[in-house]
Amino acid sequence: MEALVCRKLGDPTATETGSPESPVEVSKSYPIPPLSSDTAVRVKVTATSLNYANYLQILGKYQEKPALPFIPGSDYSGIVDEIGPAVTKFRVGDRVCSFAALGSFAQFIVADQSGLFLVPERCDMVAAAALPVAFGTSHVALVHRARLTSGQVLMVLGAAGGVGLAAVQIGKICGAIVIAVARGTEKIQLLKSMGVDHVVDLGSQNVISSVKEFIKARKLKGVDVLYDPVGGKLTKESMKVLSWGAQILVIGFASGDVPVIPANIALVKNWTVHGLYWGSYRIHQPKVLEDSIRELLSWLARGLITIHISHTYSLSQANLAFGAIKDRKAIGKILEEPKEDEKGPSVQETVEKANDKLSDQHKRLSVRDLASKFDKNLAAAVNLADEAKLREVASLEGHVMLKKLRDALEYMRGRTDGQDKEDVEKAIFMVEALAVKFNSE
Ligand SMILES: NC(=O)c1ccc[n+]([C@@H]2O[C@H](COP(=O)([O-])OP(=O)(O)OC[C@H]3O[C@@H](n4cnc5c(N)ncnc54)[C@H](OP(=O)(O)O)[C@@H]3O)[C@@H](O)[C@H]2O)c1
Repeated sequence: MEALVCRKLGDPTATETGSPESPVEVSKSYPIPPLSSDTAVRVKVTATSLNYANYLQILGKYQEKPALPFIPGSDYSGIVDEIGPAVTKFRVGDRVCSFAALGSFAQFIVADQSGLFLVPERCDMVAAAALPVAFGTSHVALVHRARLTSGQVLMVLGAAGGVGLAAVQIGKICGAIVIAVARGTEKIQLLKSMGVDHVVDLGSQNVISSVKEFIKARKLKGVDVLYDPVGGKLTKESMKVLSWGAQILVIGFASGDVPVIPANIALVKNWTVHGLYWGSYRIHQPKVLEDSIRELLSWLARGLITIHISHTYSLSQANLAFGAIKDRKAIGKILEEPKEDEKGPSVQETVEKANDKLSDQHKRLSVRDLASKFDKNLAAAVNLADEAKLREVASLEGHVMLKKLRDALEYMRGRTDGQDKEDVEKAIFMVEALAVKFNSE
């Protein structure tokens, strides 16, 4: 499989990916990871997104330092490709997303079933690949830790970056008055279009006077919650607009400077400082993290949050992708799309393989599920076939879905008569016509 491999530590933006000086290269023949346990699931990666931490990891500046060589990458979405014999939560062909400590900048990744999330029908897979770390961090920080409530004033630093843009949207959903701090016209315009209450452009405005003016004009007391993924001088300045009893969420240090928060001022002003390392919730409070991701996926499905992706690159353009993060060009998230196999298996082979992997019981269940759906409303069969045609004509998922549809209709063929029989025959004809179309593509 194709994978981005980090063989030494260093700056991946300094030279072209794969050049002798670069710490990263694209391997075209990296072994496909095997299932590592009975409950393991292998996922064929559809899309994977960059986080600042992935860049820090290759630089050797992240808190967790993996042994070399390693495949970087954390957030991903994809299609279940193979399951271990004790997997109960997923089937081959399911749409899933997750995050890993390492390994998503590749065509395949293996995870335990407990760490995967089903992507709801109405969610875009690219959006799902950019959601877990950025939105997960901001959701746990604002909702679980700061318990942000309606009417409170939230100030977000680095507001157009990955975690920042997520914090802004979650703040609005909580009913907070949101102040966003970012640099540059494009970022400012995007933030304004998201209904942010006050935006400060660091490129042309003084953060303290601009925020103080807004607070005065709106007759507010000050900032109740500071969301800080930047650190350094900006944190120091922001402390001047915090209210009595404010909360500071220490998220990261994109500026490269770890700020000092004076304990004497925290005491006098009754501030609460939350250090937040989201990934460690997986070890210490996994339920908080899992509930949070599920809630976010349901928000995504309902259109309450949107994922903004400013750049998309292939794995061989990793230098440019990390460059966009380093040069503060990223707005929201940056995406990497692993390449499809040059000569993959045929459609027929893929469907057979996917079906072989299902146990007989599993196979019967899924077919019966579909059939019972059709029993209630035969039009559902036609809708499903239509959906497969419209949305998934080119994907493995579409083929697996079609195969299941055909099996389900066959199952019904022997059990119906009269008007229903005609409808079943019509649906079978339609599904078969679609299958011919798939196979010829
Ligand atoms: N605690 C956790 O669990 C957790 C989870 C995820 C991320 N993080 C951390 O949060 C930080 C932001 O992550 P992200 O993925 O949102 O990154 P990002 O998309 O690159 O956003 C970072 C933002 O910081 C601002 N910034 C200010 N000074 C900067 C500098 N010298 N270099 C680069 N950016 C600078 C930029 O905004 P302007 O250009 O508009 O000023 C940029 O949009 C990182 O430190 C990351 O490690 C922590």
